[in-house]
Amino acid sequence: MADGLVLIAGMFDPIEKLKEHLRHASVSTDSDFKEGMAGSRSFLSTLFSEMGLSVEIVDTDLHPIVLAKREGDSAWPHVIVYGHYDVQPADPLGLWETKPFEPEVRDGRIYARGAADNKGPQMAHIAAVSELLDENPDLPLRITFLIEGEEEIGSPSLLPFLESRREELAEADLVLLSDTVSPSADQLVVTVGLRGIAVMDVEFEGPNSDLHSGLHGGAVYNPVQALCEVCASLHDADNRVTVPGFYEGVTEVEDWEREELDRLGSDEGSYRQFLGLDHLHSLKGYTSFEAIRYLPTLEFNGIGGGYQGEGSKTIVPAKAMAKISCRLVGNQDPKIVGERVKQAILERVPKGITARVTMGHQGAPYMVVPPGKPNSPADAPQRLNDAFRATERAITEEFDKPPLFLREGGSIPIIADIKRTLGLDSVMIGLFLPEDNLHAPNESMDLDVLKKGIRVSKRVLNSLASE
Ligand code: BES
Ligand code: MN
Repeated sequence: MADGLVLIAGMFDPIEKLKEHLRHASVSTDSDFKEGMAGSRSFLSTLFSEMGLSVEIVDTDLHPIVLAKREGDSAWPHVIVYGHYDVQPADPLGLWETKPFEPEVRDGRIYARGAADNKGPQMAHIAAVSELLDENPDLPLRITFLIEGEEEIGSPSLLPFLESRREELAEADLVLLSDTVSPSADQLVVTVGLRGIAVMDVEFEGPNSDLHSGLHGGAVYNPVQALCEVCASLHDADNRVTVPGFYEGVTEVEDWEREELDRLGSDEGSYRQFLGLDHLHSLKGYTSFEAIRYLPTLEFNGIGGGYQGEGSKTIVPAKAMAKISCRLVGNQDPKIVGERVKQAILERVPKGITARVTMGHQGAPYMVVPPGKPNSPADAPQRLNDAFRATERAITEEFDKPPLFLREGGSIPIIADIKRTLGLDSVMIGLFLPEDNLHAPNESMDLDVLKKGIRVSKRVLNSLASE
């Protein structure tokens, strides 16, 4: 058993349980991993049942949702704990020191795909609830665990689910989750904003087949060249996106947000070093830390076309493709931004090339202003404010330092959907760290952060229960 943990009867060892969960290869994007997805669901379902919760596996068009409830008096506070059981693909497999779905503990960290995103942080809340219910079976608190299996692919099934169960879920008081980052184990962050997202595929077609570049080169527009030209035209020399109207809806940054970011005391030199770069490239006038949180982006996630094998092949390729994602902030609407990017690309396609832009998943940006700030909403629900204050106290006590309230650059599109459909805000406690290698080989989670995270979650839930 890991040190620092004292088990009482009925309680489970969160690290052992986490290991068990990590052995299920729940990759949502790849249909070869259906068994891992099902395994993960049945793991969660058994665990929640053992905790005395009523479990429902809700079917969707793709990956079912695990819904587990501790019901009670309708006057009790009701917290929805959100998490996702799906993980990113593990490749490139060769770069892992130990196998991605055979979790291993080394130097106080647990290594496996999904350790940080999101099975570890999610386990903090599951273990907290389990311990609280063991300590006090009469705890006056209603809890709904909503653990989805499509977060890493844009949560296509979650919005229809929320809409179909609106009444039952909207009467909750708030959402609690840990699926965001903190800068270090000494400095926790309560995430108060997420970027939105809009993704698309771009295809450029030239001649009806690959051509011998000796026979035809010089006579036709090369689709790879055309695609590179159009892609390159989407940013100017200051790294500003050149799509007309792209920045519409970007909101001002509040003074208190800049102060929180100053308290973070980030240093661009060490950030460069962390990334192995000698130069950073943000929009002119913004530091890299501001740019990640407060500005939208247009990124090329992949580009290809023509011959990619060993040696050379003298062709004019028939086709080229690129994958683009835009991160959005403030009041930017993913549909509108996506459409504008698509139009800008189509307008710039040269004659001789046929272009197709296909929209992928989209999600709106999200922001919540915690209590005590100059722009805190006057009508914020009491229980939400209580949860923010309890979170601040709990983190201060367990991590010996008050948290920072910061927006983040990542996206959890469903958090904005929950706000829109259910009217609920989210309290997001950042329990993974920059060195955890999310979406990369050798993903891991710091076990000390996990243990403290359990205690933070317990304190927050307990304080809501004793209002
Ligand atoms: N946990 C991340 C989101 C995240 C990452 C928040 C870093 C804060 C900092 C989440 O699982 C994720 O990766 N989301 C995807 C969403 C996309 C596929 C719609 C993302 O941000 O790319
Ligand atoms: Mn995640």
